[in-house]
Amino acid sequence: KLSGTTTIIVLGASGDLAKKKTYPALFGLYRNGFLPEGTNIIGYARTSLDRSKFHERISGYMKTPTDEIKNQLSEFLKHCTYVFGQYDKNEDYQKLNKAVEEVERLDNKHKEKNRIFYMALPPSVFIPVAKGLKKNVYSTKGINRLIVEKPFGMDLDSSRELGKALAPLWSEDETYRIDHYLGKEMVKNLLIVRFANVFFGAVWNRQSIANVQITFKEKIGTEGRGGYFDEFGIIRDVMQNHLLQILSIVAMERPVSLSAEDVRDEKVRVLRCIPPVKLEDTLLGQYTRSEDGDKPGYLEDNTVPKGSTCPTFAACTLWINNERWEGVPFILKCGKALSEQKAEIRVQFQDVPGNVFKDSPRNELVIRVQPNEAVYMKMTSKLPGLSMDTVISELDLTYNRRFSDFKIPDAYESLILDVLKGDHSNFVRNDELDAAWKIFTPILHKIDHEKIVPKPYAYGTRGPASADEYMTKYGFKRSTQE
Ligand code: BG6
Repeated sequence: KLSGTTTIIVLGASGDLAKKKTYPALFGLYRNGFLPEGTNIIGYARTSLDRSKFHERISGYMKTPTDEIKNQLSEFLKHCTYVFGQYDKNEDYQKLNKAVEEVERLDNKHKEKNRIFYMALPPSVFIPVAKGLKKNVYSTKGINRLIVEKPFGMDLDSSRELGKALAPLWSEDETYRIDHYLGKEMVKNLLIVRFANVFFGAVWNRQSIANVQITFKEKIGTEGRGGYFDEFGIIRDVMQNHLLQILSIVAMERPVSLSAEDVRDEKVRVLRCIPPVKLEDTLLGQYTRSEDGDKPGYLEDNTVPKGSTCPTFAACTLWINNERWEGVPFILKCGKALSEQKAEIRVQFQDVPGNVFKDSPRNELVIRVQPNEAVYMKMTSKLPGLSMDTVISELDLTYNRRFSDFKIPDAYESLILDVLKGDHSNFVRNDELDAAWKIFTPILHKIDHEKIVPKPYAYGTRGPASADEYMTKYGFKRSTQE
């Protein structure tokens, strides 16, 4: 835990991520008493803004339903200042350093001065900023921690290069690579569901599980982010990080302990058992204009290069070569501009051997990450009445019903709190990142170099027409309504 004065410095403070995620999360932590007393927050970015304009900007996404919360927000804003400057000028960083020293002086009780740097920035400026901070703003009187947002590179080589440039400046211990899915309540719940329940432990293997699906669907397209998105595509944007992180927790062996290194050791170990994804195990899609003509297709976005073959939908099946999982398809599926917004993990069990109840479908364990967090198990039961008819029903743990008095924290709140505590468990270690890129780099290069044409799907539909066929190919049996 940090002792002393803490200053949080948000780089890229005038940007979208800071406005939508970082500052609302900081406010949430402040309101609930989780920021160390006397914490100040300094925003830094290139846009010239005065304090009140800056406050206006960061308040836009903060929910203030009651007067009490409104008052808390005005109190919070008193701790938020802003400095503008370039990302490659030492003198600007020195100006930032002065501003930090100024707020640090407000607390004369503590000698330790800790600084947390949050890089809410595009990857093109990671290195100059990391250098500028180290040289000019690094605290010599306390702990320094650097939070880095994805994308960490474009492929294995560029990610390693980035790592090589950062490593001499910021140690692994000081670095926190965010994958915000690791801060989501139901992703954190995975370890507990798996390792604190004897009945899952016994069936969590290739003998009982037929396939695992990890899905991310969004209703919105790339509106307003087309330029950024086109450089990366859906595999780099969501699959290589968020979905693969989930997979690693679903598939890992039990860690020796819950320490950050023990947990991450097991995640890396299972990732290293996964060979690179093959093109024949991949289905790519790109959205076109919606069927009613209201929503524009991906290529109609002005910021998207003409004729782009960038996928906005992808399904990839991964195989894990170890004793527990050999032969079990792990189907990762993600897409933008689909019919619904949902992230879930669906573990489909094998058919009941020698089943005497002819129509009983497969059991499924579903962990719904969002919206409406839930863990439910699809099972066959007797239909009430005088017959022996069966019905598919659910053992249902829907969080907002069972835990209605609890508020589920935002992923960013939970992760920033982890940084304050110095807990790396839910952050991506460098070797984990390397293992993740190894799985996806060959297919990404193939897609980029051979300009593989994605299959079209209309905005607001379930994805390319062949998506269902794809799922069937890997043994997924759709037996009931999802
Ligand atoms: C981000 C991606 O990492 O995750 C976005 O860059 C995506 O494209 C977002 O929309 C989804 O996050 P969440 O928390 O809204 O599910």
